Amino acid sequence: MNNEAISIVILAAGKGSRMKSNKAKVLHTISGKPMLYHIIKESKKISDDITVVIAHQKDAVVKTMEQYFDDINFVEQDAVNYPGTGGAVMDITPKHDKVLVLNGDMPLITAESLKGFLSLEADIIMSIFDLKDPSGYGRVIIRNEEVEYIVEQKDASDAELNVTTVNAGVYAFSRSILERYIPFLSNDNAQKEYYLTDIIAMAKEEEASIVPLLVDEAFFKGINSKKDLAEAEVIMQNRIKKRWMEAGVIMHLPDTIYIEESVVFEGECIVENNCRITGESKIVNSHIKAGSVVEDSTMVDSDCGPMAHLRPLSHITDTHIGNFVETKKATLHGVKAGHLSYIGDAEVSEGTNIGAGTITCNYDGKNKYKTIIGKNVFIGSDSQLIAPVTIEDDVMIAAGSTVTSGTVASGNLVLSRTKMRLVKDFYYKFFGKK
Ligand code: UD1
Ligand code: CA
Repeated sequence: MNNEAISIVILAAGKGSRMKSNKAKVLHTISGKPMLYHIIKESKKISDDITVVIAHQKDAVVKTMEQYFDDINFVEQDAVNYPGTGGAVMDITPKHDKVLVLNGDMPLITAESLKGFLSLEADIIMSIFDLKDPSGYGRVIIRNEEVEYIVEQKDASDAELNVTTVNAGVYAFSRSILERYIPFLSNDNAQKEYYLTDIIAMAKEEEASIVPLLVDEAFFKGINSKKDLAEAEVIMQNRIKKRWMEAGVIMHLPDTIYIEESVVFEGECIVENNCRITGESKIVNSHIKAGSVVEDSTMVDSDCGPMAHLRPLSHITDTHIGNFVETKKATLHGVKAGHLSYIGDAEVSEGTNIGAGTITCNYDGKNKYKTIIGKNVFIGSDSQLIAPVTIEDDVMIAAGSTVTSGTVASGNLVLSRTKMRLVKDFYYKFFGKK
């Protein structure tokens, strides 16, 4: 593919009212990233000139995209006077002679799926697909194998509504075609909007070459509603999981697993059913057992779960995290924490065993404090470690203790519990003998 030859314009200025949301449509996420992010990421693989058209919630759109990309041109649409996809292209200044226009609500496109638009030559190459249920899409009217025009659902006659060939919403225009016809767009239609799609009929009239390109809805699906969003999520998830399984990750019941696009696996990993792995997580030679959630964390030569929760910035190596254990901002190296614990704002070193029900009390209602636990420490079950606290190497904490002292020096035992009393025959005195 030739990176220099094509300009890409992504239309992201619309209100997206069918989403029923205060959030700009293109910022709704698929597999952890905004829809627009996915489109720009793929566009960058085939173009050095990318323009995003903005208007509705423009500041939020720009701010969000600038977290990921620093070389995108933003152009503001005059959406008050010129609403619609036609209005969106009125102020663009593409660098190249060929201009690929993409709707901003098509998060499933890939550079590969856009290849046809680069290789074909015509005044207009437009994407079409055939659907059993074409509702929501513009219908493409083809006569004698030639595209005549596109009619939007809201403007269509009954006969036109029956057409199942629809406009997928991607077009490669020669720049001269855009320059020639954009000034003639009108808003004389049901939605009182300037439709980009009206260029087709005008160009056809003047015998421009218009090539329909049959594309796959799995890549070109437009997201208008939250139902569409959920359907696209399934497609994207299947793609992500297939890629990792091909790279060697074992997944039990992959349909029940959710993995965000930024997650990375290395070596031999197993992910059991019902797991969720998100953000910048990196999983190396590790086993994530059923029902676990791993967020922005690293696991190396470790296992967690079933039903463990590694919250952001947990870094575990050579470590066993068992069921109902929650970690957060915690570095554990060579540690066993088998059952029912909370380990937050902590550093724990090798050979240490954390007993069932151990809690790092990291928050006093105002601030967060750190817990540092050395090597070969044995923490008995149901202990509370009141941070800030440092437990040096080779320390024993007796079960049920509350550690309040700032530092426990090596070699010591901490035992803080009420002395046990044994009251002889109390049960029988109280309840009577049965
Ligand atoms: C559009 C097409 C329709 C096609 C469908 C494919 C038009 C008139 N219709 O319809 O033929 O079948 O896509 O998915 O083009 N936008 C702007 N500015 C605006 C309005 C919209 O930038 O003033 C952007 C939106 O943010 C969105 C994209 O253009 O990303 C498409 O807009 P949308 O309202 O979703 O168009 P559809 O009704 O789906
Ligand atoms: Ca749409």
